[in-house]
Amino acid sequence: MPTSQHIYSCVSKLGFLEPQPLPSIHIVANMPQAKVSDAAIAQVVEEIKFDILAGVPEGSNDLKRSQIARTFISDTITAPTKEMFTYATMASLGTTALETHIAKITGKEAALFMASGTMSNQIGLRTHLMQPPYTILCDNRAHIFKYEAGGAGFHSGAAVTPVAPKNGHHLTLDDVKNNVVYGPDVHFAPTEVIALENTLNGTIFPQDEIIAISEFAHSKGIKMHLDGARIWHVAAETGKSLKELLEPFDSVSVCFSKGLGAPIGSCLVGPKEYITRARRIRKLFGGGMRQTGILSGSVAYALTHNFPLLPRVHALAHKLQKSLEDIGVTILSPAETCMATSFLGGSRVVLHIQTSESAVDDLISLIATIAEEKRKAGFVKPEVQVNGHRDVYVRRVAH
Ligand SMILES: Cc1ncc(COP(=O)(O)O)c(C=O)c1O
Repeated sequence: MPTSQHIYSCVSKLGFLEPQPLPSIHIVANMPQAKVSDAAIAQVVEEIKFDILAGVPEGSNDLKRSQIARTFISDTITAPTKEMFTYATMASLGTTALETHIAKITGKEAALFMASGTMSNQIGLRTHLMQPPYTILCDNRAHIFKYEAGGAGFHSGAAVTPVAPKNGHHLTLDDVKNNVVYGPDVHFAPTEVIALENTLNGTIFPQDEIIAISEFAHSKGIKMHLDGARIWHVAAETGKSLKELLEPFDSVSVCFSKGLGAPIGSCLVGPKEYITRARRIRKLFGGGMRQTGILSGSVAYALTHNFPLLPRVHALAHKLQKSLEDIGVTILSPAETCMATSFLGGSRVVLHIQTSESAVDDLISLIATIAEEKRKAGFVKPEVQVNGHRDVYVRRVAH
């Protein structure tokens, strides 16, 4: 058995180390310790324990659920059901099985489970972007640009070219061509990724436009990333497979904790080699997770039981938009999926799988009542454009 001294002298002979006397090592074993009293340990146990249920008043979960059914601010507020959690606790296969399934249905080689959509987008971009200077071209309303805390600059050292779509709905090939950067002029940081979002504010990106942008991007060596947090809605509304919808993209982030109603999770999908690199960056970001089976089980439940609920959500959104238009509300952005409209000063109304139909009816009748009261009090809806925006605030007519 070689001793450490022996190994040390062998290594020294190889010339890696100057031979030196080894520092002496003291092994501390069975050091006598002061006896800790049972009372002291019991006190620590007492301090650390926490019964979270003790703080939950009777019936408060039911109350919370009924509030969620009547809340229109976001589709991220849904609460996991007992059925979802029961299913998840029975799952003996975990995240690897989920990743394999997601890769298969998205038509990509590999998938990587992430804690959030922001993490999935940012790691997705970081994995494409190796050496600044470069830019990411995206819609000026894109989540990666507006709502990810400046992550593209922070994580990837990337500048962003935010482009306002000329048609007010989605970027076109012309929009892209007018803003993309390539070629030898050193004054400009080249576009290395075009990042699209589908749905964006609940609107569906026309697939033929995506294909045109993708063919152009690839012809210039530019990568295509999709923030597909709500791509599920596009599949549910158009009947197109995820594979077809995502084919033009090199990488895609899909979310489970929005329209699908799972408590946590997103997946980044793409080529095998790309996902292998993304896995390392996920670790670097501190996003490596353990024992995620209960999360993957919840996602599996959501894919099977909640995805089929999306057409009902879209139908409710259409009904809401139609009723608001009948009342005279200005619709700024059409209800193509789950986000009904932007109205009354630009607020948006978001519907989700736990929205109750009676809540939608109540919202419609509330707005109808307010509109009627305003009309009676002499307010009119102006037709004017203010600073290029349609003024949606009703004003009292001067007498
Ligand atoms: C389109 C889109 N992308 C990404 C995200 C980020 O997801 P997360 O909140 O899980 O980070 C959101 C969040 O709502 C989103 O709406």
